[in-house]
Amino acid sequence: MDIKEVSFEDKLRLVTGQGKWHTADCGGKYKNIHLSDGPHGLRKQDEEVMQNNLSYTSTCFPTASAVACSWDTDLIAKMAKGIASEAKAEQVSILLGPGTNIKRSPTCGRNFEYFSEDPYLAGTLASEYVNAVQEEGIGTSLKHFAGNSQETLRMTQNSMIDERTLREIYLRAFEKCVKEAAPATIMASYNRINGQYACRNKWLLTDVLRNEWGYKGLVVSDWGACNDLGEAVEAGCDLEMPDSNGFHAGNLKRDVESGKTSMEALDRAALNVLNLAEKYKYPDDEKYVGITKELLDTNASLARQIAENSAVLLKNDGILPLKDKGEILIIGSMAKDVRYQGGGSSHIKPPFVMSMPEAFEAEGFKVRYEDGYRSDVDIVDISLEKKAIEAAKKAKEESIPVLFFGGLTDFSEGEGYDRKSFSMPENQEKLFDKIATENQDLIFVAFGGSPFDMKPADKARATLMMYLCGESVAPACAGIISGKVNPSGKLAETFPFSYEDTPAKETYAKYTKDVEYREALFIGYRYYDTFNIPVHFKFGFGMSYTTFEYTNPVVVRNGTKVKVRFDVTNTGSVDGAEVAQVYVKNSNHDFIRAARELRGFKKVFLKAGEKAEVSICLDDRSFDIYDVARHDYVTVNGAYEIQIGSCLGDVRLSETVDITEGEDFNRDDRAFIPGYFAKAEGERPKFDEESFKKLYGRELSRFDDTKPGEFDMCNSLGDLAKHSLLGKIVLKLVISFAYRMMKDKPKDDPEVMMMVEAIKDGTLDLVLSEGGGALPYNLGEAVVLSANGKKLKAIAKLFGK
Ligand code: BGC
Repeated sequence: MDIKEVSFEDKLRLVTGQGKWHTADCGGKYKNIHLSDGPHGLRKQDEEVMQNNLSYTSTCFPTASAVACSWDTDLIAKMAKGIASEAKAEQVSILLGPGTNIKRSPTCGRNFEYFSEDPYLAGTLASEYVNAVQEEGIGTSLKHFAGNSQETLRMTQNSMIDERTLREIYLRAFEKCVKEAAPATIMASYNRINGQYACRNKWLLTDVLRNEWGYKGLVVSDWGACNDLGEAVEAGCDLEMPDSNGFHAGNLKRDVESGKTSMEALDRAALNVLNLAEKYKYPDDEKYVGITKELLDTNASLARQIAENSAVLLKNDGILPLKDKGEILIIGSMAKDVRYQGGGSSHIKPPFVMSMPEAFEAEGFKVRYEDGYRSDVDIVDISLEKKAIEAAKKAKEESIPVLFFGGLTDFSEGEGYDRKSFSMPENQEKLFDKIATENQDLIFVAFGGSPFDMKPADKARATLMMYLCGESVAPACAGIISGKVNPSGKLAETFPFSYEDTPAKETYAKYTKDVEYREALFIGYRYYDTFNIPVHFKFGFGMSYTTFEYTNPVVVRNGTKVKVRFDVTNTGSVDGAEVAQVYVKNSNHDFIRAARELRGFKKVFLKAGEKAEVSICLDDRSFDIYDVARHDYVTVNGAYEIQIGSCLGDVRLSETVDITEGEDFNRDDRAFIPGYFAKAEGERPKFDEESFKKLYGRELSRFDDTKPGEFDMCNSLGDLAKHSLLGKIVLKLVISFAYRMMKDKPKDDPEVMMMVEAIKDGTLDLVLSEGGGALPYNLGEAVVLSANGKKLKAIAKLFGK
């Protein structure tokens, strides 16, 4: 495609979408393509559909947080191909996923869409996914680039992350995937990073992504995230999605004409859109088939296989498996109305979801069932609770095992809102406790997109974490409980004992736009492990019905390239799979560094008694740190212990390597930023603001302090309403319109909550441009003027003057 042949008007048109899900065709001149969510199934919608959850029927696979626990790259590739097969059938060209943001806090409402707290694992899995989808001729969109770690004020908050942490943690998974899988598109996130919105962040999109990492694909904005198209195009963003109802096109024209946005940048962006459409278009003569029943059936079996490999057995004193499949009592309305996915833009409409009682019956159990609690509220329903307790007592008298199903509900976590509590809902916790105190043979089956307080479950004899395991969660669960399937999932994140123990608790989701990532590198296990903070379940942990032995380690080294070889033997009496993990223990230094880091892994399936040789190449950056002084990685000399084991800290084999090819790098961080070091053995570091400021090395932002006179279209209606009566009225009207549109749903329904959060906390620009043109732009301008104290000008604007 020669960009010289494209008219100026067409170029302007091409860089914004056509409707919600298509690129522009410029009146039929160019081929356009369909983009759809993603990531754990296909959420195809027709353009005119307004409600998030009304999409075409498709297979709902386990969500990212679940499938990550399989640590099975082949299986992730299979799942990706399964989703791609449905995209192909529906003639969707680009799948909006995977999401590879790093989990900063277990309470992020959207953690279920992300893989891990570890960038090596997240990047490896994202690369598998992208390569597999793209091998099928469907493009992907790696999201949300970058530093998008919370849902609270997600559209306006500024993630303040020091450069080393950005590089080693928050950008690392993206970098890995860009280099190893070249995703067709990358989605720039809503938030600001170090002061600038991701879509307008030239450092992020051009200096790092394109110039340093060599990215050749297209950058698309998250839906409604582009609030200044001219600046976004100049910064390296190619496509604004969705169509902004023409709101931004005029501004872009003005910016190009004035030279604020270069023609070169516009050419790049328009050409990237044309090239993407050319590469991923469907031929005109290709017949649309749609997703067939056969395809849904095939993918349902695949979804089940993935769920079986992803569930994590966290505790088992030997009660599981329930081999004789006698009578069981199931308690928990989440067993009947199973939670198998999260809410928001990844919401899938599967053809069929089996309930747990049905699945256990099908597995050969005789099932008694009690609701026990309501999952749409967290207050106790006395009558349900009473019946469940009585049933549990009876079960005890008759020696019938009790399975309690519970965990996080749709109301506790979802896109657009973070969790308010680390615990499971109060009604469930209370009931669980009452039953556990009475009943010795209790098994806890947990749902949720993220870790929660598992202390109550200590009273159970076994705990099986099913995460959000997709449409086939029930048969997969019944298979594991019965022993037909041997569980092999291992945690891709840590389960801390309490929220108080988490590293980002001081600054996470505090309803401020100025978010300091004070804990820096110390997130997830990097924090707990380095500072010896006891956790409930460690990163990489998961049990099996069999046992594995590790022997014969060999470390093969060529400079800093290291490969480890060892044998794993299934020493038990049932077949099973083991996720062998390799951590590198860093030597002690005076600069900040995690104690141990995951540098390689492999999942191996072994029949009972079988032995296999496992060979793992360690991450290329195993001995490196990012040096901000020279803006590059540096290999640090020293003695490193290569630890091979079945989870973080469960070291079965180890070998030490002495790295001499790098530098004797040392820096006295201990004196300069003392907050990142524990004062004494056994103490926790404080991550104080002073140390953070020095680490961050630039001014802290103060977006919260915007004053009248400084407001613009990038402020939220919620903020503007605090300073403008007109703003207050508009906010009220828009919210009541949203409630009316969703009148069949309660106000705390996840879909409704997500929409209302976006109206209150999204930029005014987003509300106007995504509102389908319902709100005139001059009304928005009038709100901004009035919040800035310019009442007369606001009135004039309202009347179009
Ligand atoms: C989400 C994206 C999603 C897009 C389109 C946004 O609100 O953040 O992940 O792909 O909507 O549905």
